[in-house]
Amino acid sequence: MRKQAYIHTLGCQMNVYDSDQMNNRLQAAGYEQAKSMEAADLVILNTCAIREKAQQKAFSFLGRLAALKRKKPGLIIGVGGCVAQQEGEKILERMPHLDFVFGTHAAARLPGIIQLVTSEKRRVVDTEMSEIIDAYESTRALSEISKPTRFVTIMRGCENYCAYCVVPYVRGSEVSRDPRDILAEIRDLVAAGVREVTLLGQNVNSYGMKERLCPFPELLKKVNEIDGLQRIRFTTSHPKDLSEDLMRAFTELDKLCNHIHLPVQSGSNLILERMNRKYTREIYLKKVERLRHYRPDIAITSDFIVGFPGETADDFKKTLDMIREVEYDGLFAFKYSDRPQAPAVKMTPKVPEATKLKRLQRLLDVQGRIGIRKNKALVGSVREILVDGLSKKKVELGRADGADRVQWTGRTTTNKIVNFSPGEGAETKISDYTGVLVQVEIKRAFPHSLWGRPVPAEPTAPNVKGENCFAA
Ligand code: 5AD
Ligand code: SF4
Repeated sequence: MRKQAYIHTLGCQMNVYDSDQMNNRLQAAGYEQAKSMEAADLVILNTCAIREKAQQKAFSFLGRLAALKRKKPGLIIGVGGCVAQQEGEKILERMPHLDFVFGTHAAARLPGIIQLVTSEKRRVVDTEMSEIIDAYESTRALSEISKPTRFVTIMRGCENYCAYCVVPYVRGSEVSRDPRDILAEIRDLVAAGVREVTLLGQNVNSYGMKERLCPFPELLKKVNEIDGLQRIRFTTSHPKDLSEDLMRAFTELDKLCNHIHLPVQSGSNLILERMNRKYTREIYLKKVERLRHYRPDIAITSDFIVGFPGETADDFKKTLDMIREVEYDGLFAFKYSDRPQAPAVKMTPKVPEATKLKRLQRLLDVQGRIGIRKNKALVGSVREILVDGLSKKKVELGRADGADRVQWTGRTTTNKIVNFSPGEGAETKISDYTGVLVQVEIKRAFPHSLWGRPVPAEPTAPNVKGENCFAA
């Protein structure tokens, strides 16, 4: 029987992609994916260091693995990702039950590292970084792909050095993948049944600049030409690099979804400057205006940090004003946390934890009201969704809504989650909706999702303006 490997992933979408790559390398080295951690001969934790809480989560997970190792002394345990890159051999000193630590540039070397651990019975640390991006490893049986949506990393690292951020230190300088590799990977995925790809990078807007590859909008155009692919998304965009060409792509490319994630972090110019974000509130708002000039109905989401060192009540008020002005479709908000390698660690005055918490709650309150209002406005309209699969959470709506039956979940082009039950609409014959584009009439709105009812494939009511990203 082949040895069993189990990878547990913490953190962002990029880590999800990286874990897939690790899996591919392990399969090429003779490992099989374990069904559970308990069944594994090798356990790898892929970690995130973006905030203190993420790092604590990694350490507490690793701590819990000690019990598993006691039960199964032959078990090999490795730590990868950003915490591994940041802490290096300190992790092995702190945790004697771990066998190896490998950094963010070491995935391709995993088989060699494991070989050293198993044959030479030694502990290994590999946190070497390089300027060259490893080729994509595609040995994994593509038939195993069960989801219609996939992430595709198009670049690695970041050189923006925002004052709070650890990424440039743990992921290294910016390197873009060759467009030919990216396109080949996406074609393989589409041949295996993938319908939607999300192109990933810390700042996709600067894709290919350093290497003088094609600019990002050009890459999007090429991806758009791939037959069989139905939807394209990308994340993340640094506002300072959001070009008119990219904005225009939203009107020119039929597969590009009608959504942009545009992290602003703060609404106060003083704080933006201290954060080293290289744009002002006014520049950001102008870009939002231009985006809406091209696509009036584009969904805009963002990231915010509350309690950055020196943030006053007045700065925070400017952040709230910004949220009200832009009327985001959704946002992620975080309490600032010191990262030891990032410059903001030395900035003062620090905002007390209780103030950060209060501001976070206030911010989420303000956005919550906007979100539900925007979702309610969709009730009664017909939207096209790409079905991800069965809904994990069963929303209890009562029999009248058909919630007693199986529930499927999908997303609109604007990235809104829509759940529905089959049999309520016309499309009763389909037994598996995964990867299917379904027209749904929105019936109910919740703060973070919508409930819909499938309508006939040939919509009787036209889709709401601009919503159908497949219209020519
Ligand atoms: N503290 C809090 N939030 C942070 N982020 C990045 N670094 C920190 C930090 N030190 C947030 C930013 C970023 C998102 C991915 O995480 O909002 O956009
Ligand atoms: Fe971090 Fe700023 Fe780079 Fe984003 S752009 S990864 S916040 S340094």
